[in-house]
Amino acid sequence: MVALPAILLLFIGVVPLEAANILILAPMPLYSHTYAFVAIFKELAVRGHNVTFVSPYPLKDPPPNWRDVEVGYVPYTANSIKTMMDGPYSFYFALNDFCKTLMEKVFQEKLFMEFLEYDTTKYDLLLLESHFCQEPLIAISHKQKIPAVTFQAMSLTPWYSFLSGNEVSLHLQPNMRSPYTNRMSFLQRLHNFFINVLELCIHYYDYIPHQQALMDKYIRYPGYENRPSLLDMLRNTSLTLMDYHFSVGYPEPLLPNVIPVGGLSAKIGEKLPEEFKNIMDNAKEGVVYLNFGSVLNSKQLPEGMLETVLAAMGELNHTVLMKWDQENVPNKPKNVLIRKWYPQPGILAHPNIRIFITHAGLHGITEAPSAGVPVLCVPFFADQEFNSRYAEQAGFGITLLPNELTKESIVNSVVKIINEPRYKENAVARSNILHDRPTPPIDSAIYWIEYVIRHKGAKHLRPARNDLSLYEVLGIDIALFILSIAVLPFLFLILLCRRRATKVKQD
Ligand SMILES: *[C@@H]1O[C@H](CO)[C@@H](O)[C@H](O)[C@H]1NC(C)=O
Ligand SMILES: *[C@@H]1O[C@H](CO)[C@@H](O)[C@H](O)[C@H]1NC(C)=O
Ligand SMILES: *[C@@H]1O[C@H](CO)[C@@H](O)[C@H](O)[C@H]1NC(C)=O
Repeated sequence: MVALPAILLLFIGVVPLEAANILILAPMPLYSHTYAFVAIFKELAVRGHNVTFVSPYPLKDPPPNWRDVEVGYVPYTANSIKTMMDGPYSFYFALNDFCKTLMEKVFQEKLFMEFLEYDTTKYDLLLLESHFCQEPLIAISHKQKIPAVTFQAMSLTPWYSFLSGNEVSLHLQPNMRSPYTNRMSFLQRLHNFFINVLELCIHYYDYIPHQQALMDKYIRYPGYENRPSLLDMLRNTSLTLMDYHFSVGYPEPLLPNVIPVGGLSAKIGEKLPEEFKNIMDNAKEGVVYLNFGSVLNSKQLPEGMLETVLAAMGELNHTVLMKWDQENVPNKPKNVLIRKWYPQPGILAHPNIRIFITHAGLHGITEAPSAGVPVLCVPFFADQEFNSRYAEQAGFGITLLPNELTKESIVNSVVKIINEPRYKENAVARSNILHDRPTPPIDSAIYWIEYVIRHKGAKHLRPARNDLSLYEVLGIDIALFILSIAVLPFLFLILLCRRRATKVKQD
C-alpha cells in the first residue's frame, strides 16, 4: 500500500522523504483541541516517522514508532460560563485570562518542565498548537533549529490570519466569536469590525507581551537571549493546519501555507458497540441524540435549564440518548437514557437517528452534517452561536439561544426539524459536499507536513507581509498618509484665512 505512492512520487520527481523525528507538544488539558488531530499524529507514526507526543493524554493503542511522554494533567477552573456567555467582548477578556493562567500553570508542571530541560533528542520538526494559549512553546523550534507546524482547532479569525500572513479583513470576515454569518447588514459589519479590532488589539498589546514574558522566564537554553521575539517566531511557522473547510463553513481566501483539514473528526464506518446498537435498532420512533459537550456540565449549566430540557425530552415519543456528566438525575423521563459517554460517530451514522441536539461546537457541527443528520443548536459561548447560525443558513439546523429555551420552544423545534423534510435533505446534501474532496483531509495533512520537512521549513511558502508590522499589514500607514495629503491643503487654507482675518482686524 505504501509502495505504490512512493513509486509514484519517485516517478514525478519528488524527493522521497526519509523517516523523520517529530516532536508534538500538547501539554495543556485541552483534549477537545487535540483529539481531532491525533489521527494525523498517529498516521505520521504509521508512515514510519518517529513521533514523540508530549501530553497528559497518552494513547491507549499507540502505533509503532510512537513515544508517549506523559505529563501531569493541569487542572483548570474554567471561567464562569456566565462571563463567557456575556457576548464576544467579555469573552475575549475571559479567554485572555484563561490562556495566561493556564500557560503559567503548565510551566509549573514538573514532568513537562523536566522534559523541556533534559530531553536531548534531536528532532526534525515541531508540531504544536502554538496559536492558542501555548505561544511560548514555539521557542522549542528555535532551540532545536527546526521548522514548526501549528495545528489549530478552530477556523479563521483576524488574529490567526495575521499570524499566518493570511488575508485580514476586519469588516468582511465574520468573527467566529460573533453571532453573525457571512451575510451581514451595515450595522452588523460595523459591530463585527469592532469585535475584530478588539481581538487584534488584545492579542497585540496585552496578550503576546505577557506570553513573551512567560517564555523568557521559563524557556531558557544556551542561546535563548538572542532568539527572535515571540511574535516573530509565531509569524515564522511554516504551516498552519486548520480545523476548517469550506464544505462546513463559509468560503474564505487561504494562502498556500494554511491547509484546511476540517472534517478530520467526521469518521465514517465506525462500528457501534453492541449495547448501543441494540438500543438504536429497537427505537421504533427513532432517536434524538443530545450532547452539550464537555465544558457544560451539572455545575456549569444555568439554573433550571436541565429541568426544562428534560421536561421537553419527556414530551417526545422518541428514544432520547443524552450525554451528561451525572447519570442519576431527578425527574428523568422514561424515554431518556443518560450516559457519561456515547460513541458519537456511530450514533450519528445509525439509520434511526432523527436529530442531534448540540451546543454547536466545531466538531458536532461537522460530524452531524457529515452523517447527514439535522441539528437543533443551543449555543452558549465562544464560536457556538457562529456555528449555529451557519447551520441555520446552510438549512440543516435551527438555533435556540439559552434565553429562548422553554419546554414548548424545544419540543416545537425538534418536531419541526423532524417533520419538515428540508432539514434532513439539506443535511444529506451537506454530507455529500463534505465527502466530495480530491484528497481526504488526513492525507493532505500528512502530505504538507512531509513537504515542510522535505523543503526544510518551506520558506518559499512564507508570505512577505509577515515581515511587516500590524499597522502596515492593515494599511494604516497608507491611510494616514493619504488622509494627511487630503487634509493638508485645508489646514493650509484655514491658516491662511486666519492670517488674513487678523490682518484685516489690525488694519
Ligand atoms: C527512530 O527511532 C529508532 C529507535 O529509537 C532509531 O533507531 C531511529 O534512528 C530513529 N529515526 C530517526 C529518523 O531519528
Ligand atoms: C406523540 O405521539 C402521539 C400519538 O401518535 C401524537 O399525538 C403526539 O403529537 C406525538 N408527540 C410529539 C411531540 O410528536
Ligand atoms: C524562521 O524559520 C526558519 C526555519 O524554518 C529559521 O531558519 C529562521 O531562523 C526562522 N526565523 C525566525 C525569525 O524565527
